[in-house]
Amino acid sequence: MSDHNQVTMTPMAYEPDRPKAENPVKIEDLTLRDGHQSLFATRGRTEDMIPVAEMMDEVGFWAVETWGGATFDTMHRFLNEDPWERIRTLKRYMKKTPFSMLLRAQNLVGYRNYADDLAKAFVERTAENGMDIFRTFDALNDYRNFETVVKAIKAAGKHFQGCICYTMTEPRLGGDVYNLEYFVNKAKALEEMGADSICIKDMAGLIAPYDAYAIVKALKENVKAPIHLHSHFTSGMSPMSHLKAIEAGVDIIDTCMTPYAYRTSHAAIEPLVMSLLGTNRDTGFDIKKLAQINEVLEKEVLPKYKHLLDDTKVSIIDINVLLHQTPGGMLSNLVNQLREMDALDKIDAVYKELPRVRKDLGQIPLVTPTSQIVGIQTVNNVLFDDENERYKMITAQVKDLCYGLYGKTAVPINPELQKKALKGYERGEEPITCRPAEVLEPELEKAKEEIKDLAVDIDDAILYAIYPVTGKRFLKWKYGKEEVPADARPRTLDQVRKEEELVKKAKAGKLVEKASKDAPEKSDNLRKFNVFVDNEYFEVQVDEPDGPPRVSYVPPPMAQPMQPMVQPAPVAAPATAPKTKEVPKVQAPAPAPAPAAAAAVSGTPLKAPMPGMIVSYAKKVGDTVNQGDTVVVLEAMKMENALAAPVSGTIKSINFTSGEAVAQTDVLCVIG
Ligand code: CO
Repeated sequence: MSDHNQVTMTPMAYEPDRPKAENPVKIEDLTLRDGHQSLFATRGRTEDMIPVAEMMDEVGFWAVETWGGATFDTMHRFLNEDPWERIRTLKRYMKKTPFSMLLRAQNLVGYRNYADDLAKAFVERTAENGMDIFRTFDALNDYRNFETVVKAIKAAGKHFQGCICYTMTEPRLGGDVYNLEYFVNKAKALEEMGADSICIKDMAGLIAPYDAYAIVKALKENVKAPIHLHSHFTSGMSPMSHLKAIEAGVDIIDTCMTPYAYRTSHAAIEPLVMSLLGTNRDTGFDIKKLAQINEVLEKEVLPKYKHLLDDTKVSIIDINVLLHQTPGGMLSNLVNQLREMDALDKIDAVYKELPRVRKDLGQIPLVTPTSQIVGIQTVNNVLFDDENERYKMITAQVKDLCYGLYGKTAVPINPELQKKALKGYERGEEPITCRPAEVLEPELEKAKEEIKDLAVDIDDAILYAIYPVTGKRFLKWKYGKEEVPADARPRTLDQVRKEEELVKKAKAGKLVEKASKDAPEKSDNLRKFNVFVDNEYFEVQVDEPDGPPRVSYVPPPMAQPMQPMVQPAPVAAPATAPKTKEVPKVQAPAPAPAPAAAAAVSGTPLKAPMPGMIVSYAKKVGDTVNQGDTVVVLEAMKMENALAAPVSGTIKSINFTSGEAVAQTDVLCVIG
């Protein structure tokens, strides 16, 4: 009985108002941030959080995570929601429980290091909008990247939680890089910086129960700040790790409400409450209250998101994660990216290439943004490299990493790759060793000048500064300067039910509808489209009765399935259209030029090697280019890819503008 952390038990019946335990385990709920980020690609809408917000406020959580991570990006990019507004709205419903956010240190809520002035302003505004706990991490565990934000968190009188990203190079804790000593030293460094609590951030669910025990025990012996464990379920170990961490004296554990739990998310709260009942670490939570919240989530909220669940597998555990150490969010991103590129069959090659890329890049932990940096570079290598050349398409972010712009890597970067990446790099070919933000010019004032009146307040300006392209587009939506696209609008339960009805009918073979009118005469404007859905082919005829006469039409090449060939315009259900099939939802680039116009210019096309969004064109029509010059910067999976001219010549046509979405193999420009 010498171990004072030992969990002791007094048998008792379940009572919601049972006596308080001697040292209750504190719980942070992650449902409203990491939960939907892990399972539903961060698509949770504020309106779907409100129905449970007040009930969750009554549970007694140490904190609720409501913001940060990918929410800021997803909200303004896909959901047409102002990220700042979410904090203020939820605060109106959750008045007692402190709010926690995930802050990517100098990366804020983006994917690169921002300048000090922007980082300071961001933290100040976040605190002002209602954030209480700043869970701060740096993807490289380089705490020089904490300096600016921690100063601002402390100045605002808020809670600074310092994270140690949990990662390893061996199957279990140990090895030359990420061993027990590494984690103890990192914790000591955080304490020196004034951390109010210290979090072991196990984003990939890698921490094994006995390793969790060893680390928590060592940290409790070496630092005074409360110890917090954040461990994703992905590998299936986290509930066991939680229990061992509790036995080692961990102070705070992260969990999710059941419908948002497990898979790549976190363990559920309810089993933990029951496991600890009657012990000296009893949470004290009322499990019936939790059940009520689950009921609302299950019935009123989850039906809207179910379609986003990765349903390609039955297993809820990914044992592969133990082999390739891929965090949950990264995994779903990679799968989505490959699926969009019709290359899902390459997933095994990606798993194989990933540890090689990681090693080349200095054995960095895999967490946003390094998970994206390593992930998309891996995808690029798998798709574009050949036996003669590795790293054929190096993303801008890998170049930045090689330059030292993200900080110091755990081990040195492969010098050969570093040299290749920095050849012609705009900041210089010699990497830096100082704190990265020291080489960054202040950027907030510049952003304000650029965005002018479209930013009404400082929060708008910060949003634009962090996300110039999508941020600007969002501000246009927000202030009614541009129409909000249909897919950015929320789904209602009614719509979901109607869709479910349709699916049910289709499955029963009853989805045969009669045309309500006789088919009209076909006019001269009739256009024929070949539509490919997976491996099925349909011929669709589109007739715009009063449209201009059609002069020419270039049929799309056969070898490109899933291309946006159909404009979602008035498709007047022509008699020959296959009525039992739903017309696939097509993301047509809004004001894209007609295919005929693009094809009319002769020359060498520069095609999008992957679906993505145009960041900018480096050239304009009439400019001369040399083969290899950057012509377009394309963002894919949040990484920027500089696309080079395939030949030398003159830019004959440019087919898109900044901010537009493009599909794989879309012709971005023509060089003649
Ligand atoms: Co997480």
